[in-house]
Amino acid sequence: MPPQHIGIIMDGNGRWARKRNQVRTQGHLEGLKAAKRLVKAASDMGVSYLTLYAFSTENWKRTQEEVGFIMGLVKRYLIEEMDFYRQNGIRIRHTGDFAGLPVDIGREIRRAMEDTRDFRGLQVILALNYGGRDEIRRAVERLVRAGVSVTEDAIGQHLDNPDIPDPDLIIRTAGELRTSNFLLWEAAYSEYYISDILWPDWTEADLTAAVADFQKRERRYGGVPGGNEP
Ligand code: IPE
Ligand code: IPE
Ligand code: MG
Repeated sequence: MPPQHIGIIMDGNGRWARKRNQVRTQGHLEGLKAAKRLVKAASDMGVSYLTLYAFSTENWKRTQEEVGFIMGLVKRYLIEEMDFYRQNGIRIRHTGDFAGLPVDIGREIRRAMEDTRDFRGLQVILALNYGGRDEIRRAVERLVRAGVSVTEDAIGQHLDNPDIPDPDLIIRTAGELRTSNFLLWEAAYSEYYISDILWPDWTEADLTAAVADFQKRERRYGGVPGGNEP
């Protein structure tokens, strides 16, 4: 059985470009191609949810040119891939601060979510303008506004997509050993897989290797192996 939910921190686009003496935006263009490859691979593998970290709440620190380029790519991806979503039954969703997105991107995300709402295959969750701390803050804000007591369950129920199970496996490409604010709440018991391969170089085989590694892990959730014998 493949993991039900995989999250990917798609990192290394800039380094991929620099290695080739190209501009960073070229790396993002190749990164988009990798995203398309890996969405198909996850769909073929029978994964139910794939969360792609495309733009963090901290990525606004980058130049206006780079930010604009990334947003443009996302918009194009949402518009141009509709046939692909239909053929593969892919449902598009979003996590992150929707209100803080440029209006035209927000509009395309909403449209793609509407148009793919009834598709029953892989759900692709675009983490765009996403920060783990920001998501928790917004959840707590909703709770307080609703006058609900602050329990773990209640926080979980007020996150961006409460129906989506926590990620089983979180992949980070390009080698950094940090979460960079990705799915902080949901990743409490996720298995991590860090790969040195830069995101634009990722292929189906790399996903297969990550999943095979995941399948060897023993998930204990704080318990002891094999049960509770003394
Ligand atoms: C990941 O690649 C894409 C985004 C964060 C949007 P980077 O652009 O962070 O690439 P590096 O880390 O500079 O190589
Ligand atoms: C994480 O990558 C964010 C995304 C992949 C969208 P960054 O490149 O922003 O992370 P840091 O700055 O290396 O922590
Ligand atoms: Mg990076």
